[in-house]
Amino acid sequence: MPATRHEFDVLVLGSGIAGLNFALQAARHGRVGLVTKKNRADSNTNWAQGGIASVTSREDSFELHVRDTLDAGAGLCRESVVRTIVEEGPARIQELLELGARFTEREIPAEPGRRELDLTREGGHSKRRVLHAADATGAELERTYLQAIASQPNITVLEDHLAIDLITSAKIGAAGPNRILGVYVLDRIRQEVEVFAAPVVVLATGGSGKVYLYTTNPDIATGDGVAMAYRAGLPIANMEFVQFHPTCLFHPQVRNFLISEAVRGEGAVLRGADGKRFMDRYDARGELAPRDIVARAIDSEMKRTGADCVFLDLTHLQESFITGHFPTIHARCRELGIDIARRPIPVVPAAHYQCGGVVASVDGVTEITGLYAVGEVACTGLHGANRLASNSLLEALVCSHRAAQHALQHRPESHSLTIPEWQTGNATDPDELVVVSHNWDEVRRTMWDYVGIVRTNKRLRRAEKRLGNLTEEIREFYWNFRVTADLLELRNLVTVAELIVACSLQRPESRGLHYNLDFPSSHPAWAQRDTVIRRPA
Ligand code: SIN
Repeated sequence: MPATRHEFDVLVLGSGIAGLNFALQAARHGRVGLVTKKNRADSNTNWAQGGIASVTSREDSFELHVRDTLDAGAGLCRESVVRTIVEEGPARIQELLELGARFTEREIPAEPGRRELDLTREGGHSKRRVLHAADATGAELERTYLQAIASQPNITVLEDHLAIDLITSAKIGAAGPNRILGVYVLDRIRQEVEVFAAPVVVLATGGSGKVYLYTTNPDIATGDGVAMAYRAGLPIANMEFVQFHPTCLFHPQVRNFLISEAVRGEGAVLRGADGKRFMDRYDARGELAPRDIVARAIDSEMKRTGADCVFLDLTHLQESFITGHFPTIHARCRELGIDIARRPIPVVPAAHYQCGGVVASVDGVTEITGLYAVGEVACTGLHGANRLASNSLLEALVCSHRAAQHALQHRPESHSLTIPEWQTGNATDPDELVVVSHNWDEVRRTMWDYVGIVRTNKRLRRAEKRLGNLTEEIREFYWNFRVTADLLELRNLVTVAELIVACSLQRPESRGLHYNLDFPSSHPAWAQRDTVIRRPA
């Protein structure tokens, strides 16, 4: 029986803020398919606690936001991109408010009865500039967008659909400039590989936190977009810059619950197992130093003292302030037996954000005509070697808007190329699924042990070797057996892991999030130099 075929004017992969914003705009002009691998609300966006950084207060300025972003980025940001994103932020925030997003407000101190947006502070920001919806900002954005797209007849949402590979003109051997034709997608419920044809495809697939054993990311963060783009021949840049969030809850059962940086922004302090503060020994900005510095300081304290975790103490803050500002964190910790108003929270660093990704312009444009990359999957030059807290939702919002405008203004010409069906060949059902789950664990543990916060070339080479063996095994499995979602995600995960290692080995220095004991300083020759990897032809 021929496989199911779908046709759209625009196909969006991913249902976080970047994908939803693109879809909403594109739907005013054509039919949009929105493919998401689980439930539509399963996205990194939905888990974001802190907020969106944008200049909305009179005490702040674009210049300051640009400077903070460049400082955090440790010399590797593209300044023109930073300026564009920072300066277009307020207009996008205004649109969000018009769409119905409800951010936390506060009474203006000198003007009783009048309210304004409440701004919180996070590491690396010289001003209060983070808009937030208490401590569940991402969930509020997701709610707003899902409500908006629900009343948009031009958008078809396909849940439980996992993108497998991009279909390009080069892939099917057609002459001329490489252009996107569509995507092979696994319907997870029917276990069928379907063909989605579209002249415009948007990678909005998020990051790859699951490549590490400990992460603040949801299960969907398996680097699918980066891996697909790499297989399609696109350049992938700066994958060595994996951001470890300093404060993930340390709990035997719950391993990916974030304790927002805004908690430190509002005055919480870090203490070692001896109850003493330690951040002042590492940076004059203390707990509000940029994330790379705080995460490394915690890692070093844990190694120095042999402790399993450190503690985030906010017991000096008023209980009503804690429950008002951090209701989600308060409630979740309480469920787990930790009353954060009375007891310091045990925390450890965990993989949080992928600063590198598919090379894309600030308009989301990639090297393949009609293919866009927006949000965490993309490497636009905003984050450089270290993302400033809460700049990611801002980037997703601004770049997806710009990408949608670009796509509307540059509609690809129609073509007569035929997309072949997915070939299953002689594949049979896998007989030993234990291989897949074992390899999942091995990739994640290898990355945690050898490619973590502090690296050495010896450890990186070890990881390279192990990942090489795993890649061979996974490739064999992929070709011989019918594909499953677990196998496809594993295949992506190991590709992303190899890219992180390869980029790390390319950079002979320490910069931002990439810290290598063999090269503990930054090298001027590597300032403004990206590590770029492309699949050999
Ligand atoms: C947080 O709330 O700490 C996360 C914010 C971010 O990653 O930008």
